[in-house]
Amino acid sequence: METRTALSDLIESDQAHLIHPLHFPAEHTAPLVAVEGSGALLRDAEGREYIDGLASLWNVNIGHGRAELAEAAAAQMRRLAYTAAYAGFTNEPAVRLAERLIRLAYANLSGVYFTTGGAESNETAFKIARYYWKRHGRPEKTKIISRIHGYHGVTLAAMSATGMPIFHRMFAPTVPGFVHIPPSYPYRYPGAPAAEALEAVLQAEGPETVAAFLAEPVIGAGGVIPPAADYFRKIREICARYEILFIADEIITGFGRTGLWFALDHWGVQPDLVSFAKGVTSAYLPLGGVMVSGEIHGAIREAPPEQRFMHAATYSGHATCCAVALANLDILEGENLVRRAGLLGVRLLAGLQTLRDLPVVGDVRGLGLMCGVELVEDKTTKAPALGLGVRVMAEARKRGLLARIRGGQKGEHPIGDVICLSPPFVITEAQVDRIAEVLRESITACL
Ligand SMILES: Cc1ncc(COP(=O)(O)O)c(C=O)c1O
Repeated sequence: METRTALSDLIESDQAHLIHPLHFPAEHTAPLVAVEGSGALLRDAEGREYIDGLASLWNVNIGHGRAELAEAAAAQMRRLAYTAAYAGFTNEPAVRLAERLIRLAYANLSGVYFTTGGAESNETAFKIARYYWKRHGRPEKTKIISRIHGYHGVTLAAMSATGMPIFHRMFAPTVPGFVHIPPSYPYRYPGAPAAEALEAVLQAEGPETVAAFLAEPVIGAGGVIPPAADYFRKIREICARYEILFIADEIITGFGRTGLWFALDHWGVQPDLVSFAKGVTSAYLPLGGVMVSGEIHGAIREAPPEQRFMHAATYSGHATCCAVALANLDILEGENLVRRAGLLGVRLLAGLQTLRDLPVVGDVRGLGLMCGVELVEDKTTKAPALGLGVRVMAEARKRGLLARIRGGQKGEHPIGDVICLSPPFVITEAQVDRIAEVLRESITACL
């Protein structure tokens, strides 16, 4: 920004006109105006540098400032920025990306539908699940079971699947037919039969009314909660036994975040549908989608005219977004970044584990380059620390680290404030080590 006046004018105009996601003026008195980025670093309008500890919103996985993606977008835009991809029309980047995704993801998957973001991907997955059961003559199978602390986006049906009541409060009622069960959360519910909670709810609701179970392999925005080791194998078995589709929300975990291309591979499990977004383009352009199993794909491909798949969106299969995704995959593969995410994740988690001696650090957990530090008032009772996270992040920002807090809420399912970390895969070893140092200083400053 050229002058301080220009910067304060910009902020004033922002405050006058721009409605932000999670808008709340008290949290927006001194917004960070980012102007440049390079690798894992962001620079603000006053020249200060920060480690982008959450890869912005868990998504700038190849790091900031990658000219290759700008060039891929420009080249595609010059030739053909966009054209319809409705049945009867297609374009090469969308086709090439679909075939590449099917090669990369679980072996049982066969078809891809493209969206422009995470919530739209989940909405699409719910509709495909309903569609599949209607194609099989079971139109009563419509409900979606998801989990407390899960985050699936905040359009109306995705919001209804999201298991954090704070997102529902001012937008109720939620869509009928969305049911929540507790997740696998070893710190707060050690030894709890989490997968069995799915079986219990299926028996209570009647499996003949349920279309699908939806879960993030590692809960992200809800507080970075990796499951117990046997959880998803049991979930897969229960879904099969009760004839329920299993939708994996891999909007954060997809494309390498946990050290494997897709996260259920950690436990040898295959879902029926996969929602993805974020990392598919490393956020350089908006793109998401749903991958489906061969069986579901067959139901779409072989439908009679009166049951055709009447789901659509203008920007499905957007040529430029798909071209950028292909260039992003070239970088992930060419620079071996998925392996790097796994290796640096181990280093980040080890660094964060050293914070356990602090009196408010109740739990430290993670999988790959996705880690969480849960703050408590009392380590013995695990009483959640609420409000501390925001103060810690303000201290961290002063010291050049950006991250996000999953804030626990009074009266909701207990969880302390969680410091969420998921930096770009290109972060350096020194920057990884700096994250734990800054958090130690910041937490200590708040005690
Ligand atoms: C797991 C998960 N699902 C869905 C979403 C929603 O994605 P979007 O914000 O692109 O709608 C998010 C966003 O953070 C997410 O983390």
